Amino acid sequence: MTSNPVFVALDTTDLDYARELAERVRPDIGGLKLGLEFFSAHGPQGVRGFEGCGLPIFLDLKFHDIPNTVAGACRAAAQLGVSIMNVHAQGGAVMMRAAVEAAKSVSPSTKVIAVTMLTSLGDEDLPSVGLTPPVADQVLRLAGLAQQCGLDGVVCSAHEIVRLRAELGPDFLLVVPGIRPAGSALGDQKRTLGPRQACDAGASLLVIGRPITAAPDPALAAREIAESLLVSVA
Ligand code: C5P
Repeated sequence: MTSNPVFVALDTTDLDYARELAERVRPDIGGLKLGLEFFSAHGPQGVRGFEGCGLPIFLDLKFHDIPNTVAGACRAAAQLGVSIMNVHAQGGAVMMRAAVEAAKSVSPSTKVIAVTMLTSLGDEDLPSVGLTPPVADQVLRLAGLAQQCGLDGVVCSAHEIVRLRAELGPDFLLVVPGIRPAGSALGDQKRTLGPRQACDAGASLLVIGRPITAAPDPALAAREIAESLLVSVA
């Protein structure tokens, strides 16, 4: 997909700011992540606006609905030319298979990945939604199900990388948010890892937001991360 594993999360509703930021960091990143915040404000047109920047796009909309509806949403998202999209594994096997089939019928190269358990949920939250702790076991079970259903990978927290890589093999995409280079603020992220450590542990792609977007010089922050990963920078 790209030799630089860093996808920058453009978490904003400000279209001009998002475009300007993407342009500034473009030489030193591997892709862009557009999520619910951006999509709710700007929709498909907003996503198409990034076509010209030549970077792969991860459309992070976390679909979770009945199979027919998710399949339709995946077909529509695949038509936007995005490289990665995602669904909730908790939508079940039939839904995940429908998602993959629908997305690949439009764009065979688009990767469909699954969210297992939201990283905002802890062991203490599981019984109230009818699940048995620990979270780590739920993550492994749902990631295995996603793999059986033909998904290309999962989103996982830094602290799940080693176990999932060992269980799911070398080719399954592990897309990891919550990345914090040394010295950057944790914000609301709890289970963090540095970029180099996450890649060494077996991450395929890193989703990085505020350590780049909120840095005084986002281009410099992106370049330093790229250099720490020993990827070639332009
Ligand atoms: O700013 P920060 O680096 O924390 O941004 C991380 C990005 O990854 C955000 O867009 C956030 O929504 C996303 N994400 C996450 N945890 C997950 C799934 C997605 O932080 N489990």
